Amino acid sequence: ASSISVFSGIQPTGIPHLGNYLGALRQWVGIQDKSPESARLIFCIVDLHAITQPQEAEQLRERKMEMLATLLAIGLDPRRCTIFEQSRVPAHSELMWILSCVAPMGRLNRMTQWKSKLGIPSDQNALQEKSATAGLKLGLFSYPVLQAADILIHKTTHVPVGEDQAQHLELTREIASSFNKTFKRDILKLPITLLSPAKRVMSLKDPTQKMSKSASDPSSRILLTDSPKTVHDKLRKAITDSSLGPLTYDTQNRPGLSNLIEILSHIRRRQDFDNVAKEVSDMSLKGFKDLVADAINEHLEPIRDEYEKIIAESNREVLRFVASEGERKARESAEETLAEVKEVVGI
Ligand code: ADP
Ligand code: NA
Repeated sequence: ASSISVFSGIQPTGIPHLGNYLGALRQWVGIQDKSPESARLIFCIVDLHAITQPQEAEQLRERKMEMLATLLAIGLDPRRCTIFEQSRVPAHSELMWILSCVAPMGRLNRMTQWKSKLGIPSDQNALQEKSATAGLKLGLFSYPVLQAADILIHKTTHVPVGEDQAQHLELTREIASSFNKTFKRDILKLPITLLSPAKRVMSLKDPTQKMSKSASDPSSRILLTDSPKTVHDKLRKAITDSSLGPLTYDTQNRPGLSNLIEILSHIRRRQDFDNVAKEVSDMSLKGFKDLVADAINEHLEPIRDEYEKIIAESNREVLRFVASEGERKARESAEETLAEVKEVVGI
């Protein structure tokens, strides 16, 4: 058996945006296409994480289907990968409870994601934090432990994610080694974090914030299914500065423009942002924004076409079949680890 085992997840909270795609999803496909046959590749639609924020039942069910369709449209191959819905594999939640019994509260308290989801600024004003935590739900606080369970239950070796998840991966490793130490057996594997070159794609409306599904302004993000016109409109409205003179890559002083230069570079699989900036420096801002929109559209066109075919009502049976096959394979992998864990815990 191969020692490579890749796991990653995405919340079914809407069509993925360019940040999800460049920061995580494109890397999933890249890994699939270059891994040896023997590598295990597991991609999870994490509905249990989605319900840490209020969701509408019917909409959540539909969004899981849309997410599955999106993952297939970007090029994940269900014959090669296990793609499944988290809640259909109860071993994830069972392991979470067991890990909760070794996970230190103090460490969870220092995680920043639940704070940002409650709108607590990162400078951590103690008073603000106290009033916001009055309404804090236990699930939103403890979901990094569920995330640790998601990863550890599949004996994952590599986790491709965006930078916002690096902190949770660190916690996952700590929980794994704490479990192994407590029960004096090396059952849980410590996974490696794989950051894509596009670690953090920023919002088009506020370049100090990451592009996010939850930001209230929909024109702050490009969705994979946006029409070419919508992409152009969003780019034109993107916040940049009004400096005169050549376009330059300067993350300190021109964060909005620099974000667009990075997006263009990542689409072209380049990381030499300064050179990319030099190549466009003579363009007008409007011309440059149209160029970025065209590059995005050209890249997304085949994905959008695929998505339309896959999500069609006539194809629902196929989607349901892919989801059940994924569930079957994920259960097999998860139950194996859970059995070992229960054995040493004594339950
Ligand atoms: P969101 O944060 O938009 O709700 P998820 O939590 O479902 O999305 O994250 C799915 C994946 O996308 C994770 O690996 C996360 O790190 C990555 N990701 C999310 N937003 C960005 C971004 N703006 N830039 C890069 N990667 C991102
Ligand atoms: Na996220």
